[in-house]
Amino acid sequence: MRKLTDIFAAFLALALTAPATAQKFEELAQTPPMGWNSWNHYGCNIDEDLIRQTADALVESGLRDAGYVYVTLDDCWHGTRDEDGNIRPDPERFPSGMAALGDYLHARGLKFGIYSDAGATTCAGRPGSQGYEFQDARTYAAWGVDYLKYDWCATGTGEDQRNPREAYRTMSRAIRAAGRPMVLSICEWGENDPWLWGREVGHLWRTTGDITNCWDCIVGHGTWFSSGILPILDRQEAIRAHAGPGGWNDPDMMEVGNLPTLQENRSHFAMWAMLSAPLIVGTDVPAMQPEIRDILANPRIVAIDQDPLGIPAMRWIATPELEIWAKPLANDEWAIAVLNRSSSAQDFTIDWSAVELKDDQNGRQARFYDQAYEIEESWEGEASGDTSTPMLGTVEPRDTLVFRLRPQ
Ligand code: GLA
Repeated sequence: MRKLTDIFAAFLALALTAPATAQKFEELAQTPPMGWNSWNHYGCNIDEDLIRQTADALVESGLRDAGYVYVTLDDCWHGTRDEDGNIRPDPERFPSGMAALGDYLHARGLKFGIYSDAGATTCAGRPGSQGYEFQDARTYAAWGVDYLKYDWCATGTGEDQRNPREAYRTMSRAIRAAGRPMVLSICEWGENDPWLWGREVGHLWRTTGDITNCWDCIVGHGTWFSSGILPILDRQEAIRAHAGPGGWNDPDMMEVGNLPTLQENRSHFAMWAMLSAPLIVGTDVPAMQPEIRDILANPRIVAIDQDPLGIPAMRWIATPELEIWAKPLANDEWAIAVLNRSSSAQDFTIDWSAVELKDDQNGRQARFYDQAYEIEESWEGEASGDTSTPMLGTVEPRDTLVFRLRPQ
């Protein structure tokens, strides 16, 4: 009896001291995840042919080689559960099955992402994973899944709502128990401050409700709303301290290619890169225009997003029309983005030696009066002088210029 008590006490001590992070696959998402997701462009209208065509187009367009490797089926791939509770894909839309689709993606150097929900149903009313977490994670592992986006619909209301930390921890443990490394994308729309706890259990967390393809609008849908690029951007700076290698603020999947003007598409991409945001393409890749491809594949802007420090940009200098954002990069370099929020061209001057660039949160500083930096314009990769003289420029309506500064 004594022995049993001792064993119990030892177990208890172990349980109490075991790190809360033990279940997460720590090695994943050391830089913000990059890939494609079906939702923004296709909504529920997905099938295996579309996913295969998109995979092929990611390879042919060079986007895979630019880093976009996670191909994620969002809502509506689901069929029903079988008599043993195993989730199955929609047999008409995915007749070859999910393991075959995973093989198709892996054979092309891509990774397989899938979507589920912490409630009884997904947002589109398909079966959710509540009560099936361990079984579903085992199924995904058997299919070769590498990434799970886990949504928050049908999780109850008021006092009956699931505890989000508990719900996401359960799925994180289920993935660990299934034994296959998967990125866990927490999608509870920023409602429960996931930047404060998401890193323990997952690799990225949505910071807002859904994005939509407009510059500065908010669209109501009855009980919820979606937001354009600027309203989402405006909510990111306050939480910049929480992002970094292994855990990222996710301002939602990109609408690059779905916005009406080239300038808006460029700005959206540049600012997501400045934020160290996950870069998840949300457009029709097989029909993508070359200029959209060139935005998404721009190696210098992608490198800003993927910088190993993983420090999101801060708003350095701002007027209502024009904002200059600054992002500390590895090797004492900086990325600078000049964003024109307005619908008219804006002139700007940066008198480098007259200003100090300081990121107190990260202990980074550029003393331009002591140390000159070479400037590279990032869209074209052209040398653009140095910081010993003021920089003058014009930004087109809703466009963004990006520069990389390297100490001389
Ligand atoms: C929620 C998510 C979206 C998308 C849809 C699918 O709205 O936030 O990103 O996954 O559900 O129904």
